Amino acid sequence: MRGRVGTLLLLVACAGPQSALDPAGRDAERIATLFHWMALFTVLVWTAVMLAALYAIRLKTSPFSERQARLMVIGGGVALPTVVLFLLLAYGLSMMPALLDDGPMTGPRIQVSGEQWWWRVRYTTGDGRSVELANELALPVGERVVVELSSPDVIHSFWVPALAGKMDATPGRVTRLPLEPTRAGLFRGACAEYCGASHAWMSFHVRVLEPDAFEAWLARQLEPARPPTSALARRGAALFLSSGCGACHTVRGTPADGVVGPDLTHVGGRHALAAGRLGNDVPDFVLWLERTHHLKPEARMPAFHLLGRDDLLALATWLDGLE
Ligand code: CUA
Repeated sequence: MRGRVGTLLLLVACAGPQSALDPAGRDAERIATLFHWMALFTVLVWTAVMLAALYAIRLKTSPFSERQARLMVIGGGVALPTVVLFLLLAYGLSMMPALLDDGPMTGPRIQVSGEQWWWRVRYTTGDGRSVELANELALPVGERVVVELSSPDVIHSFWVPALAGKMDATPGRVTRLPLEPTRAGLFRGACAEYCGASHAWMSFHVRVLEPDAFEAWLARQLEPARPPTSALARRGAALFLSSGCGACHTVRGTPADGVVGPDLTHVGGRHALAAGRLGNDVPDFVLWLERTHHLKPEARMPAFHLLGRDDLLALATWLDGLE
């Protein structure tokens, strides 16, 4: 029974929004197939070695002759690994052109930059309108798009295991990662290259949507923020502007137009806060404003714990309402 529960847990661990073994993209499917072939070869080689060892220990009573021993070393120690590794290498390399195929693309231009420690995302539509967001992408299902990656300072690596392989975001150049989602859903990505103190707090989400829903999402992102509706949110908006938040953050539709930090125009509509560090509700905003560096060491944003509890709540209420 315990064995069966263990197997079940192992299988469950392979599924989920951040699993390369539960692919939801064309490229991830190819990589998963490669993994399964490699795992199969590994099991075959391991079994053969174990059988040979058992034979040598238990069944073989007389010593091997010089000739037999040499054959075994050359056959099992040189020829077999060379052939097996060559086959796997050739199979793996044969996939590369397809994985890097960023041929004619449809849809918007998507640029992603690895920041300290969050992801700056920019969508530019065919008619030249562009919008910046943070730590979240949306993609239309069934379309192949390219994400253009860069970084202003250190190397990060952009990885959505369920959709494709990883690609470095490198200062001074633009790298291109094609993504082709095959089913709708919410997937989680992570930074896969150690980049500093909060490297582990640098995740993001990818919403894969039906084409209509994707267009609606993009249209919504292009809109400015809606005005606050409650007295508390209005107070929060005023505090945001008077406390200097607008020096680093943009909220389109208000005078806040800073470019250092994430664009917050639709921050309340995102799946998570602070690059996946927190959920996205009023208490999460309060926590983030109060304990910024406890939650994310060396983040460039200053903590706002000097503001009173009421002020923080007002700010959080306004930000949470920016959907
Ligand atoms: Cu960014 Cu690790």
